[in-house]
Amino acid sequence: MTTNIMQTPTLTSLGAARRKWLATLSLTLGFALEANTAFALNPPKPDWSLADMPSQSGRIFLVTGGTSGMGYEDAKALAAAGAEVVIAARNPQRGREAMARIKEEIRGAQVQFEEVDLADLASVKALGERLNAKLPRLDGLINNAAIMAPPERQTSADGHELQLATNYLGHFALTGHVLPLLRKSSAPRVVTLSSIAVLRGNIDFDDLQSERAYNPYASYAQSKLATLMFAFELQRRSQQQGWGIQSIAAHPGVAVTELIARGPGLDSEFGRNWAKDRDEYHSAAQGALPTLYAATAHQAQGGAYYGPTGEEEKRGPLGLATVPAVAQDGEAAARLWTVAERLTGVTYR
Ligand SMILES: NC(=O)c1ccc[n+]([C@@H]2O[C@H](COP(=O)([O-])OP(=O)(O)OC[C@H]3O[C@@H](n4cnc5c(N)ncnc54)[C@H](OP(=O)(O)O)[C@@H]3O)[C@@H](O)[C@H]2O)c1
Repeated sequence: MTTNIMQTPTLTSLGAARRKWLATLSLTLGFALEANTAFALNPPKPDWSLADMPSQSGRIFLVTGGTSGMGYEDAKALAAAGAEVVIAARNPQRGREAMARIKEEIRGAQVQFEEVDLADLASVKALGERLNAKLPRLDGLINNAAIMAPPERQTSADGHELQLATNYLGHFALTGHVLPLLRKSSAPRVVTLSSIAVLRGNIDFDDLQSERAYNPYASYAQSKLATLMFAFELQRRSQQQGWGIQSIAAHPGVAVTELIARGPGLDSEFGRNWAKDRDEYHSAAQGALPTLYAATAHQAQGGAYYGPTGEEEKRGPLGLATVPAVAQDGEAAARLWTVAERLTGVTYR
């Protein structure tokens, strides 16, 4: 059963029993809740492909982590559809290579690179300032960059656990910094990448930074659950504040990218198990389709979560992804937002 649910702050004023009943109804029927009304999320065309992507001419996108994997495929496909694309990642050399490959394949591609380390809040703020100074607006932000499961606990420039910092806090801060640019667009979208790992994820408010105990996979799952809850909470706040942003979540299933090699390592137990089935996984280009649908399809809906619908949602046709119960908890999402504001020093206005 695929489910999506949005719970607005208006709903939190309803009685607990009525909220519980609405949540159960939503779980059962696959509803989203918006402004006190339930509306059905329409599943995408299962075989949606780049051929279905509407022209993106005149639209400006920022793609974090566009130097490899899905982010690279997002940037290339958006540029091919006529968008102006800014790739933001850490390494200028990888940035130059990504731009050169895209320009080689797509004649006239408008793509540029901006250096940012999402695990350094000063770097994220500086990127926001540069973009606000040079772009007229931002039509789409793809919060894609991530790291996965470094074997030992590491910390960011600001002292936060590295996966939480890179995958969640950096994107929380970046989205806040570019909010003024997004609000200048007539139809802004923010697409945030999550993962099937969230189905085993939990937000540990008592040890968010994994200081007491560090399990690399649990910390990864927590960080991706946080991004999913962020995507839903941003949609609620956008509706409430009238920002006009469609906030949508997506995940690729399992795709062959650099994530494992640069995280736990291909020679780790996880890496060896992963490598056994790698022929079965999506390519990065296939893994990018849920994100690209969310970023461009006219039918894509704010508050939805898109991903593959095959076995365990690891691959297969595009559809509505399973939302774990914890990600449907509007109160927990609001609490997490407040924590992120405190840890990043960024408030949305
Ligand atoms: N691959 C999968 O099976 C899978 C499954 C579920 C979800 N996902 C999600 O899909 C998204 C894309 O991952 P991928 O598989 O395509 O991984 P990837 O090939 O390793 O790409 C990750 C990108 O993130 C960038 N990045 C990493 N740390 C950064 C930082 N501190 N600041 C700025 N950029 C940073 C990297 O760029 P530089 O190194 O050049 O900075 C790289 O471009 C992630 O959100 C991931 O969680 C992937």
